[in-house]
Amino acid sequence: MKPLLIQLHQSDPEAIRAELLAGLAAEPATIAPKYLYDALGARLFAAITELPEYYPTRTEAAIFAAHAAEMARALPGFATLVDLGAGNCEKAARLFAPFGVQRYVAVDISVDYLAASLEGIRHLHPHMELAGVGLDFSARLALPPEVGPGPRLMFYPGSSIGNFTPEAALPFLRDVHAAAQGGGLLIGVDLVKPVAVLEAAYDDPLQVTAAFNRNLLANAHRLAGAEFSLADWKHVAFFNRAASRIEMHLEAVRAVTVRWPGGERRFAAGARIHTENSYKWRREDFAALLAVAGFRDLCCWTDARNWFAVFLAKA
Ligand code: AVJ
Repeated sequence: MKPLLIQLHQSDPEAIRAELLAGLAAEPATIAPKYLYDALGARLFAAITELPEYYPTRTEAAIFAAHAAEMARALPGFATLVDLGAGNCEKAARLFAPFGVQRYVAVDISVDYLAASLEGIRHLHPHMELAGVGLDFSARLALPPEVGPGPRLMFYPGSSIGNFTPEAALPFLRDVHAAAQGGGLLIGVDLVKPVAVLEAAYDDPLQVTAAFNRNLLANAHRLAGAEFSLADWKHVAFFNRAASRIEMHLEAVRAVTVRWPGGERRFAAGARIHTENSYKWRREDFAALLAVAGFRDLCCWTDARNWFAVFLAKA
């Protein structure tokens, strides 16, 4: 069946410019992590998932490979799978058979990218009903009626929930709960673990993560006209234990003045731009968060080292 495509997110270049420049002028300076993913950034992230130090992707995949059938038995009977941040749709496709999915709704910022991914799915699964929705759900998740009636199984893998502060994760999960309409949620969550393991995953010796982070400056240059010179900035990543999150920053290696049309900012040597938070949860704290968001009948699967968790819950 031909995929139904709906673009709701309008990426207005003026709004993007204004948002980026407001972040650069703020104290502390910030650039939002969503700007990491231009075409090169998406490929660098894919390379990160292949690094020996970056455990989340392969640990989560192993949990699904070992337990997908059991997961489907725990929450049977949902014909519609809604994939939040679908990208290449690969993770979701592995659930089609065990979960008996008949209708697949892929949600991501760009419907153009989804269209290409869904074409691939269409050839492998000719009878699947397919839809792609272009939507930026980082602020608010509201699915259009074309997504079809519930109940739905909402799928949010990869520990992308880690980009949300706990305060922002709650309203987001309430939106997911509302969208699930008597269905359920399947979500991957990265767990607290020894600091050395965490920090190696976000500061790898090959410096792929450094390239991924520094590419943000090239994107800010292109999207907002901010004249960054990559040689002036280095990648910094560390575990902030009090906040239970990995923080990524870009740090000025010398005093620099960054200019953009209509403004500039001086950064002293050692000054930082905060670019990403990746929260690490304790299993029981995330279970409590899901319960507060309205989910019930929680099931949880982890790997042998307890590094990553997959939760399944009823809405
Ligand atoms: C895609 C947000 C899950 O937080 O681990 C990887 C992004 N940043 N390395 C993560 C990321 C640096 C990733 N998420």
